[in-house]
Amino acid sequence: MPHAVEFSTLAKSFRNYGQPCLSRAMSEENKREIPWKTPNGKVVIRAFCTPGEIRGYSFDRQFGTHAHYKSLYTKRESLERMAGQADSNVALALAQGKDIVGFGVLAYPDADERWSEMGDLMMEVNALEVAREWRSGKIARGLIQMLLSHPQLEEKIIYFVGYSWTWDLDGNGMSAIEYRQMMIHLFEPFGFQELQTNEPNICLKPENIFMGRIGAKVTEEEQHRFKWLRFGLSP
Ligand SMILES: CC(C)(COP(=O)(O)OP(=O)(O)OC[C@H]1O[C@@H](n2cnc3c(N)ncnc32)[C@H](O)[C@@H]1OP(=O)(O)O)[C@@H](O)C(=O)NCCC(=O)NCCS
Repeated sequence: MPHAVEFSTLAKSFRNYGQPCLSRAMSEENKREIPWKTPNGKVVIRAFCTPGEIRGYSFDRQFGTHAHYKSLYTKRESLERMAGQADSNVALALAQGKDIVGFGVLAYPDADERWSEMGDLMMEVNALEVAREWRSGKIARGLIQMLLSHPQLEEKIIYFVGYSWTWDLDGNGMSAIEYRQMMIHLFEPFGFQELQTNEPNICLKPENIFMGRIGAKVTEEEQHRFKWLRFGLSP
């Protein structure tokens, strides 16, 4: 199982955009905000936004309903609610210091999800979205970087589920298979790998994807339990 990605490797992949590079940003303890260059102009990406801060920002109207796509979060209040949960991390890309043009949410799974059986060991990248006009500017990479600035990162298994019916195929002009490849390409540099599971919702479509990142301090016993749980079993 791969553990933490070497910062030097990540720094190389970030050198042409988003600044400062990850190695520098991560070395500054409790760094909560980074400037990020995009073709549309500068944004800042801010981690651990509080409900109060989020209330003061405006939510881009593009996070709504399009012809063949509906955003996962259509209301700013939903982000506020997630930011109020224990240990969660709501990371926002902000234009003009106050307009939300991208968001990522790291949170514990809902109690009715299989992964909640691992207690607080597992956290999910529960949402990741960039407003259509701001896409392909590496904002998603910056959001993932800031989501993973979590102080307990190495003690956790962070996972991500991609359900193809939630993807904006129209907005990105991609087939589901291409989109799936994009998600792998997006998450792999951060130490995520595709994992097999028999979880029924994930198995509904072959394009769906389950990816996980095992923290360096996750014990072998915990990894073992996780392996069994992926197939709905106990060791
Ligand atoms: C998925 C999503 C968050 C990506 O956001 P983004 O800011 O455009 O992504 P980035 O610019 O950081 O690009 C990440 C990688 O994906 C690739 N990519 C992004 N958009 C692409 C496109 N339209 N065509 C081909 N590749 C694309 C880029 O090549 C990039 O890799 P690179 O850095 O090596 O060049 C965005 O498309 C989105 O909001 N989609 C709707 C919500 C969604 O599907 N969320 C996923 C959770 S299920």
